[in-house]
Amino acid sequence: TQRTLVLLKPDAVRRGLIGEIIGRIERKAGWTIPALELRTLEQDTLEAHYGEHKGKPFYEPLMGFMAGGPVVALVVEGERAIEGVRQLAGPTDPIAAAPGSIRGDFGSIVRENLIHASDSEESAARELKLFFPSL
Ligand code: GTP
Ligand code: MG
Repeated sequence: TQRTLVLLKPDAVRRGLIGEIIGRIERKAGWTIPALELRTLEQDTLEAHYGEHKGKPFYEPLMGFMAGGPVVALVVEGERAIEGVRQLAGPTDPIAAAPGSIRGDFGSIVRENLIHASDSEESAARELKLFFPSL
């Protein structure tokens, strides 16, 4: 069993898609949500979270977007949850994402792609510590 860090990005919260997206996660057999909170991300949290992208052309606009409204941060726990949430989300570019995936069903803009999910066991460990240090 694995734990992964999921963020419902400001576009998902603004558009009223929290229930829709969490519903898809909740319906996966055996998965649970041991922690969940609504919060506006501080600059230092965001820099630590997306540090791997610093210097890329999309980095500054991504920071502005992610700081521009509250996100829902949650922990998803269950069988192969890291790979599993990435599958539910679909590829980064929502136009390339298949219908049936969260990004494919609701997104059209690369930056505003609704959801973040840890991409490996290493990222999950780092991101869980950053967002839910007491868990
Ligand atoms: P995250 O779960 O948010 O980390 O998405 P990801 O792992 O699918 O993509 P990645 O880590 O490569 O990029 C992080 C985020 O930056 C993406 O989710 C997008 O919001 C944004 N992003 C990535 N690549 C591009 C790009 O080429 N253009 C723009 N505008 N935004 C991008
Ligand atoms: Mg990523």
